Amino acid sequence: KKVGIIYGGKSAEHEVSLQSAKNIVDAIDKEVYDVVLIGIDKQGKWHLGDPSSHLLNEENPKLISLNKSNKGVALVPGESEKQLVSLSQDEGLDQLDVVFPIVHGTLGEDGSMQGMLRIANIPYVGSNVLGSAVCMDKDIAKRLLKGAGISVANGVTFSKHQRESINYVEVEKKLGLPMFIKPANQGSSVGVNKVRNEEEFYQAIAEAFQYDHKLIIEEAIVGREVECAVLGNEHPKASIPGEILPQSDFYSYESKYIDENGAELAIPADLSAELVEKIQNASIHAFQALNCEGLARVDFFLKEDGELVVNEVNTLPGFTKISMYPKLWEISGISYSELISQLIELAVE
Ligand code: DAL
Ligand code: MG
Repeated sequence: KKVGIIYGGKSAEHEVSLQSAKNIVDAIDKEVYDVVLIGIDKQGKWHLGDPSSHLLNEENPKLISLNKSNKGVALVPGESEKQLVSLSQDEGLDQLDVVFPIVHGTLGEDGSMQGMLRIANIPYVGSNVLGSAVCMDKDIAKRLLKGAGISVANGVTFSKHQRESINYVEVEKKLGLPMFIKPANQGSSVGVNKVRNEEEFYQAIAEAFQYDHKLIIEEAIVGREVECAVLGNEHPKASIPGEILPQSDFYSYESKYIDENGAELAIPADLSAELVEKIQNASIHAFQALNCEGLARVDFFLKEDGELVVNEVNTLPGFTKISMYPKLWEISGISYSELISQLIELAVE
């Protein structure tokens, strides 16, 4: 099968995607699959074939600190991108049997890419247009989860045109301190802040609106952060859960990708068999409530009393060899290469 791997993209998670794609290209079963690289640079330009592999061939493509003044395209482009050459005119997407789009965030994970592939009639790994779109929007996702009887953090939503009406005292009364302010549509904690006072509150609002026209403000949940990987279409299965042990204030972009001591992953999480089962069932429930297909990583808070609160569901989770999603499948009995094959087969089934 001819498999297109689409990676990069214009989102703030461009560099994360390069890491995921590099690992997939290395590990994919080359006896079964013919890989066609399709890189999207930070300007949104597409590059097809071997020339785009420059991005992936660097030993350790380095993640770059957020450049917060750079709205929407939040990371400084790497040198390697300059080596990309233009998409050749005579090779088209229509020759592909299936696509693995490993583009995180805006335009990759939010249904846009999925819509384009659907129109082009090419099967693709992961959730359909609807599932991708609803999971990307934390406000909409929470409404659907609530509707399905799944606990989510208390919060409020504001769009940009309501900005003048956002009042610290009112929100604080409702949610308490500290609170989290997040762009509604973003990944990897880009634009997310934990706030403890009025000054931080208004700063965080300004920052979140740099990334999206809508933001959510949420109560801080006290609990452990556990994550579970889901795989499948109609009959999805859930992995053994893992846990994030953040070493800093919260599981921020820096602690995810930059700070080497930023966070530790406990794989598997230290949990009773009863809790493992509860988390697995809740993961599948959330996956189905949000119309997911193929894969998703469901992120929870586990409160001290055992209550599970879904933080969010990621339809194209970080996919490097050492990322939570593939690691959870590895300890559940599916190797990284095998996982890639299963995802591709789920896309064409
Ligand atoms: N949004 C990042 C890639 C994740 O969920 O892992
Ligand atoms: Mg996310």
